[in-house]
Amino acid sequence: MIDYDPFSDDAMRDPHKIYAELRKGDGPHFIEKYNAWALVHFEDIWNTSTKHEKDITFTAGQPLTNVLLGEPVPHAFPSMDMSEHRKWRRVVHADYTKGSVEKERERITALAREILAPLAERGSFDFYKEYVNRVLAINAGYNLGLPREKSIAWRGLVDETMHRETGQVGTSSERNLKAAGQLAQQLHAYVREVRANPALAGGHVAKYLAAEIDGQKLDDQGLVNLLIIFLTVGSGTTPNVCAGAVYYLAQNPDQKHAVLNDLSLVPQAFSEAARYDQPTNILCRRAANDFEIRGKQIKAGQNLLMVYASANRDEAEFERAGEFDIFRSYPRDLTFGVGGHMCLGMHLATMAGVILLEEFFKVAGDYRIDTGRCTRAYSEFLSGFDHIPVELGD
Ligand code: HEM
Repeated sequence: MIDYDPFSDDAMRDPHKIYAELRKGDGPHFIEKYNAWALVHFEDIWNTSTKHEKDITFTAGQPLTNVLLGEPVPHAFPSMDMSEHRKWRRVVHADYTKGSVEKERERITALAREILAPLAERGSFDFYKEYVNRVLAINAGYNLGLPREKSIAWRGLVDETMHRETGQVGTSSERNLKAAGQLAQQLHAYVREVRANPALAGGHVAKYLAAEIDGQKLDDQGLVNLLIIFLTVGSGTTPNVCAGAVYYLAQNPDQKHAVLNDLSLVPQAFSEAARYDQPTNILCRRAANDFEIRGKQIKAGQNLLMVYASANRDEAEFERAGEFDIFRSYPRDLTFGVGGHMCLGMHLATMAGVILLEEFFKVAGDYRIDTGRCTRAYSEFLSGFDHIPVELGD
């Protein structure tokens, strides 16, 4: 029996050893302390998301801090159930189709080049903070209709609200609360400004400001919630995957040289980094009805942990799942989830991630990474590298 706690220091640092142990069990693993089932096998997450959507509710939130610790749930479409969820998600859906995202290729490429050029001139820099996270924070702000300086400042505050000290459980340290207070104050002021003068709003903010669904319009808090969600998801996962790609390629020189010699392999490198080191480590739901997963009886009211990072390394689904191999192929994965709440931004994430990597590899030469100084996010929710010191080569 494994005493698995997703908030334990071991699990927050590097959960993969624990997940490998948990996957030796058949079916979901019960965590009494949280009245929760951890779904660590690919098949269990896939089947629950595709066959039991009516038996689960998203209204308790998706992050573990909401579902397991009872922190307040921001009311927005990710924490709504089906018919309501679909209507509010649809307001911006057209901006995230493959075709719409493709129209942004030139703008995102130009932005990547602009941010990368002075860094490349310097020769060594933090690949995550100075390059990929910076580009995607500006891009997330662009999609929301925000000016650049606001996007960067607010993304910085979002990071502060999510920061954890060693051993910290939940998001209520003094540092988190101070940042959350500043962020709320500034976002509410912004929402009041665009409400008073809608011509100042652009992108998603303009669409959500105007949206009326079933006779309901969003109040200020509803708009602030969406701003925080889009700033977080729009710039918080794709950079981890890019950082993972350059790190794991550096650990596997044959694959690294193959990519440097043939940039058409970059999409495979991005997908493999996302599979191998899935950035949305765990997302939750709550059972709305009793149902069964592989012989385990799930009761209404119990919590469900979709441990995506474990599912994407499940040996029953992927051969040599614990190896980084950009040449592998597979018919399905859980990188962007599955079902009605599947990632809205998957086409954007894939296109932007590939652009960011291609632009880097064009100037990187035989780059080196100072592995001793790399750091990973300390979190139960999002995982991946958040500091990658790189030195460009010849
Ligand atoms: C490689 C990068 C990314 C990964 C791995 C990823 C992964 C995921 C996953 C697994 C989910 C499903 C959540 C669940 O099952 O509870 C999700 C949802 C979501 N993602 Fe992403 N995501 C990425 C990038 C993005 C980007 C760039 C955006 C930009 C808008 C985005 C927006 C969203 C939204 C809004 C949801 C909630 C969808 C809903 O509940 O209807 N994601 N993402």
